[in-house]
Amino acid sequence: MSTLEPETGGPASAGQAADGWSNPLRDPRDLRIPRIAGPCTLVIFGVTGDLARKKLLPAIYDLANRGLLPTSFGLIGFGRRSWSDDQFRDWVKEHVRTRCRTVFRESTWNQLTEGIRFARGTFDDPAAFAHLGEIVLQVDADRNTHGNHAFYMSVPPSAFPVVARQLAASGLSESAGDAWRRVIIEKPFGHDLASARRLDETISSVFESDSIFRIDHYLGKETVQNLLAMRFANMLFEPIWNANYVDHVQITMAEDIGIGSRAGYYDGIGAARDVIQNHLLQLLALTAMEEPVSFSSHDLAMEKAKVLSAVRLPEDLAVHTARGQYAAGWQGEEKVCGYLQEQGVDPASTTETYAAVRLDIDTRRWAGVPFYLRTGKRLGKRVTEIAVVFRKAPHLPFESTATREMGQNAIVFRIQPDEGITLRFGSKVPGSRMEVRDVNMDFDYGRSFTGASPEAYERLILDVLLGDAPLFPTTQEVDLSWRILDPIEEFWGTQGAPEQYRSGAWGPAGADALMHADGRAWRLP
Ligand code: BG6
Repeated sequence: MSTLEPETGGPASAGQAADGWSNPLRDPRDLRIPRIAGPCTLVIFGVTGDLARKKLLPAIYDLANRGLLPTSFGLIGFGRRSWSDDQFRDWVKEHVRTRCRTVFRESTWNQLTEGIRFARGTFDDPAAFAHLGEIVLQVDADRNTHGNHAFYMSVPPSAFPVVARQLAASGLSESAGDAWRRVIIEKPFGHDLASARRLDETISSVFESDSIFRIDHYLGKETVQNLLAMRFANMLFEPIWNANYVDHVQITMAEDIGIGSRAGYYDGIGAARDVIQNHLLQLLALTAMEEPVSFSSHDLAMEKAKVLSAVRLPEDLAVHTARGQYAAGWQGEEKVCGYLQEQGVDPASTTETYAAVRLDIDTRRWAGVPFYLRTGKRLGKRVTEIAVVFRKAPHLPFESTATREMGQNAIVFRIQPDEGITLRFGSKVPGSRMEVRDVNMDFDYGRSFTGASPEAYERLILDVLLGDAPLFPTTQEVDLSWRILDPIEEFWGTQGAPEQYRSGAWGPAGADALMHADGRAWRLP
């Protein structure tokens, strides 16, 4: 196969959309995502929100710029502002220009902008949805979208049910002939198991289960998908990926930012619901799962669900969970306020901005291997990683002084920002004496591959438009994750205010105590 050809089995050849629609912007040398969406319209609810501005609209532009959207693509923003189409287009252009990851090209923009429309309205207004229906039909006709429609709910969870019902009542959720309808919902999927179930019932009463795409943007990250490649494409790692060799696993998602302008969303939700229930439990599942029969969504989901069902909570939640709230401090050069002083936060809030927990997995592969999960805002630096830490060698044929500086071997998946994999092992220090110290062997995306990885939302939006579901958590995974988190939240609910930690530090003292109780320590990423 020539290096200029798309991968075998891809739905379309380079420069051609799935339906044979040719796209002049497609770069035929880009083999990393050789799939192109077919004709369709994407409607975004909550288009003026943070997520749409910062992530969705730039991702759509970048997809177009990489030649992965068809010319027959329509984008409709639904919002409250009284904008004309042109005002909306100007607004989108401004945000795309400042946030896009590929070069801003007028030619790409001109092609995209022809399919952009704005629908004014509020979620509770049936007339607004009737008007949206008219715009959708116009876009179908103008852009030849074949009547395929995706609806992106970039809205607070409380608005999911009303939008879903309006889509049903206006007939927008119903497809005719071969055309498809898909709905994309952003996390959080509920705030506990019961509310997640209710939400699922509402959405499922409007859309078929294979038309519902739940976004966990971590699954769209290149390095997260590489976990599967590394584990299952190689011979090297899988034989040692078990309790015989692995001592414990640490999954860290640390952020240096505070909650910014998101108090309305975050206060009352907290770090565990925001991040552990979804991103970190997905990372745990991908790290711990058995080899799937294939990478179809069914087979992958089955293996992830098996792991999540085997998760066991600690017996003593007081010892093996920790939570904290950031206090004022320094973030680099900047003096920052504490969580309780953030605008929009209840000054008596007990919402945690840091959460850590030990989980065990009751399977033969992982018996006795703790998985430690932690996440927090305003920590020392922004880093997400999975560190698989190995047992010490059972015997060291050296003078004890020779290995006293040596730690445990580890394989670290550096999810971000410095994407890659690190292998940590002992090596002789050069010199006339035998002395062993830890060294790192690094694989860096930046050095091994040319071109930046696509942004997670690019990959996920493209997958929705193609109808590819493997990177989207199923309702069963969502349920199982809430089953893990609910008892922890219930326990924390009885514990009063979380411990304070200084902004710029590595979390509350309780998080260190959690590890010390097991004779371990957190890695300093
Ligand atoms: C989101 C959380 O899911 O992930 C945010 O709601 C968090 O609180 C964000 O800041 C982090 O995403 P990323 O891709 O920057 O690690």
